[in-house]
Order: sequence, then C-alpha cells, then structure tokens
Amino acid sequence: MKIAVVGTGLVGHGWAIAFARAGHEVALFDAKPGQSEAALRRIDTILPELVSFGLIESDSDLRARIAAYGSLETAVDGSGYVQESGPERVSVKREIFAELDRIAAPETILATSSSGIPISTIAEPLGGRARCLVAHPANPPYLLPIVEIVPAPWTSEKAIAAADDLLSGVGQVTVRLKKEIDGFVLNRLQGALLHEAFRLVEDGIATAEDVDRTVCHGLGLRWSFMGPFETIDLNAPGGIADYVDRLGPMYLRFAQERGAARPWGPELVARIEADRRESLPASALADRAAWRDRRLMALSVHKKAPDAAAADVMKERKR
Ligand SMILES: NC(=O)c1ccc[n+]([C@@H]2O[C@H](COP(=O)([O-])OP(=O)(O)OC[C@H]3O[C@@H](n4cnc5c(N)ncnc54)[C@H](O)[C@@H]3O)[C@@H](O)[C@H]2O)c1
Repeated sequence: MKIAVVGTGLVGHGWAIAFARAGHEVALFDAKPGQSEAALRRIDTILPELVSFGLIESDSDLRARIAAYGSLETAVDGSGYVQESGPERVSVKREIFAELDRIAAPETILATSSSGIPISTIAEPLGGRARCLVAHPANPPYLLPIVEIVPAPWTSEKAIAAADDLLSGVGQVTVRLKKEIDGFVLNRLQGALLHEAFRLVEDGIATAEDVDRTVCHGLGLRWSFMGPFETIDLNAPGGIADYVDRLGPMYLRFAQERGAARPWGPELVARIEADRRESLPASALADRAAWRDRRLMALSVHKKAPDAAAADVMKERKR
C-alpha cells in the first residue's frame, strides 16, 4: 500500500522507516521546503545501523520505497492511509486535516500522531470525520512498537479496524482506547511519574540524576517486558490482591499526601536543567539521542527472542 507521511520531523521520518520496513511505499510531504530531503538524509544514516543490528536485511530495498513529494496532493494521491505528523498545535492539525479530508480518496484512513490532542478536537466539522482517528506512536516508532489508537465517538468501526490491521501488520503493537481522554494512556502514565519525579527533586529528597538512576537501574528494567499490573502481581506470593493487601495503604497514603498538582515552576526547571547540562552539555543532546536509539536497537534484538535468551542462560548454568 502507498502510505503518506505528512510532516517529516522527528516522528514522521521514524514512521517512514516503520512503514517501509514492512514493504509499504512511503510518500513524504512537509510544508517546510527541504525538510523531506533532510528526513531522507537522516533515514540514510539510520538504515545501516538497523542492518548492523540485524533488524533489517537490506537498507537499499527499504530506502527505495521512501520518496519525497513536492505537494500534499501528490503525496496523498493513491495512498490508502495517511499518518499526519505535523506540529502539536490544534490550529495546524485542523488545517491539515481539512485539506486531507478534501483531497484524499473517501476510503483513505486519516490518522494523526498527536501526543495528546483528541481527534474530535481536530476533525469534528469534517464530512469525512468517520475515517479520522489518532494513531499515537512512541519515539522512534520503528524501535518502540506501541501505538495508541484513539477514535472519536463518530469514528467508524471499519476505520478503527483497518488502522489496527495496518499498524499491527507493520509490526507495531496497538492499544485501542475505549474513549477519548486528553493525553491518552501513555502520556497519562508518563505524566504521573514525571509529576512525582519533579516533586522529589523540588522537596530536596533526591537529585534529578538519582531519580533517573532509580528508573534506569530499577523500575525500567522490568518495564521493558512487563507493565505495572503484572509487576505487582509477581511481587506478592498471592498475586495482585495480596500485594494490594500488603502495600495498598502505603500507596493510598502517598496519593493523599500529594494533594493538589504542583506546576513545574521556572526555578525548579532551571535547577533540573542545570543538573542535566552538567551531566550532558546541550551540544551533545543529538549524539546522546543517537546512542539511545542504538541501545533501543540492541534491546529490540533481545526482545525478539526473550525466551530463547533466558533458555540459553539456563543451559549455561546447568553445565
Ligand atoms: N517527538 C516525540 O517524542 C513524539 C512522540 C509521539 C508523538 N509525537 C507527535 O508527533 C507529531 C510530530 O512531532 P515531532 O516531534 O515530529 O515534531 P517536529 O517539529 O519534529 O516535526 C513537525 C514537522 O511538521 C512540519 N509541518 C509544519 N506544518 C506543516 C503542515 N501544514 N503540513 C505539513 N507539515 C508541516 C514541520 O516542518 C516539521 O518538519 C506531533 O503531533 C507530536 O505531538 C511526537
């Protein structure tokens, strides 16, 4: 299928790799002249790394399926699915969707990568609103498979199922939200953790680095293969009810102590920013993001055969 990716920044170029990896033709369009070509250059640096990790076989085959287009019309023409990945601003998304609804064939699914804006806010007045939905990825989508599918009340079951089939078919892992909520599930969970993290630093309980260390060397190690419910199910001999019996009152106390949400004030942000810049200068952010992506590539390789890896270790130990 031909797929149009509209907006080819951080997330758009990642979507292009995910779709092309699964054999789809990808048409890139960006309103900023030269941006899609820049995205292609970025893709050219990523593909050899994916080959070296064994995550794709041929970078040239994949690359041949992605092309930059000079207009939205030509990118969308013949596309069965559009992944809008423009800026996270309601006015811009409304404009792009109005245009997409006008030019795309009636059966084309129109999805947005929006991190938190519900599709009902974007597509409400459109004649083709039944084919519009949110398909929210994590960054970068070709390494983090989760996609939240969030329909509006009027999105058709047919469009939801078609988007789910397409995204599952390219190797993403879909979660269908039962109804719209600002921020969806992923950023609601991330937001809860971030609020607690900012508070721990603001109250002088721990440094930003120690909060990061706690996740990196503790919670996060489990989270790469199990979620919070499975985690607590395994952390009490009698499972989740036993865990809640033992520790529920403690967590309730934390929630009650927390009280009203605290905004992340400029002084606190400046303090955490200064701590971070001491660990990582601003000039090294892009290199560190590339390092993160290589770590994710290694983790993807590991996650593709988790049981085999565990079995190998067990075999070693028995020797
Ligand atoms: N960055 C993330 O971690 C992340 C994760 C998940 C979802 N998202 C969502 O994905 C979307 C894109 O985010 P990003 O981080 O890639 O932003 P970005 O700023 O890197 O890219 C946005 C691109 O859209 C282009 N653009 C602007 N107006 C346009 C228009 N009218 N038509 C076509 N292109 C246009 C810009 O030139 C830019 O290249 C946002 O909705 C964001 O919330 C981001």
